[in-house]
Amino acid sequence: MRRKLIAGNWKMNKITTEAIELANGLKRELYKIDDVDIVVCPPFTSLEEVSEIIYESNIKLGAQNMHWEDNGAFTGEIAPAMLKDLGCKFVILGHSERRQYFHETNEIVNKKTKAALKHNLTPIVCVGETLQEREAGKAFDVIQDHVYNSLEGLTSEETDEVIIAYEPVWAIGTGKTATPEQAQEVHHFIRGLLKKKYSEELAEAIIILYGGSVKPANTKELVGQKDIDGALVGGASLEIKSFSEIVKNASIS
Ligand code: PGA
Repeated sequence: MRRKLIAGNWKMNKITTEAIELANGLKRELYKIDDVDIVVCPPFTSLEEVSEIIYESNIKLGAQNMHWEDNGAFTGEIAPAMLKDLGCKFVILGHSERRQYFHETNEIVNKKTKAALKHNLTPIVCVGETLQEREAGKAFDVIQDHVYNSLEGLTSEETDEVIIAYEPVWAIGTGKTATPEQAQEVHHFIRGLLKKKYSEELAEAIIILYGGSVKPANTKELVGQKDIDGALVGGASLEIKSFSEIVKNASIS
């Protein structure tokens, strides 16, 4: 049985005092939730403070990106061990904003995914098509390309540790959510790809999140779909009220 997971991607928002306030509020609101895994991904600059606040709580820490090398002359980059050192358990990789604005390719996402696994960080690997690609009937080709090439060369034991986030680019920050049926169709397709490449057992075990304008009002329906195991939330993760409602709506208790 796959557990539900709700992750908040704070993107480039919140100075440290604001991050502290949000983390404290979420801890207060969500301490009773035990059937949903909760992850927050603040910017690098407030990882340490948020880590201290959520220490030993039911909220886990993630980062939004990292470099694939262990260390070295890579000005401005952050290494996997630095994230581990601050208490991160997760790292978002290949977010569409990184693919789009920072030219991250599947090859780069693949290197980062391998590095995360090597350092015992759970990678949340993002995949998803643009509006143009969807309208051209290429959505499934793009998703297959993202899934297979971002996970290229991983053993099935390694792939088993990966979380996939399906985020249609046209639904991110636009208020346009994929319908639960549209999202379910893609999640089912992704499970099919994993089954083809690895095994049915692995395909059934892997966690696949949906992302793109997830709000308290659409959470229940989305996470109620058979192949949707939770959500990667952007805008609505920036407020205590909306993110805690999303988590509560994903919880069955
Ligand atoms: P959104 O972002 O919820 O603001 O659409 C989702 C994401 O980019 O992870």
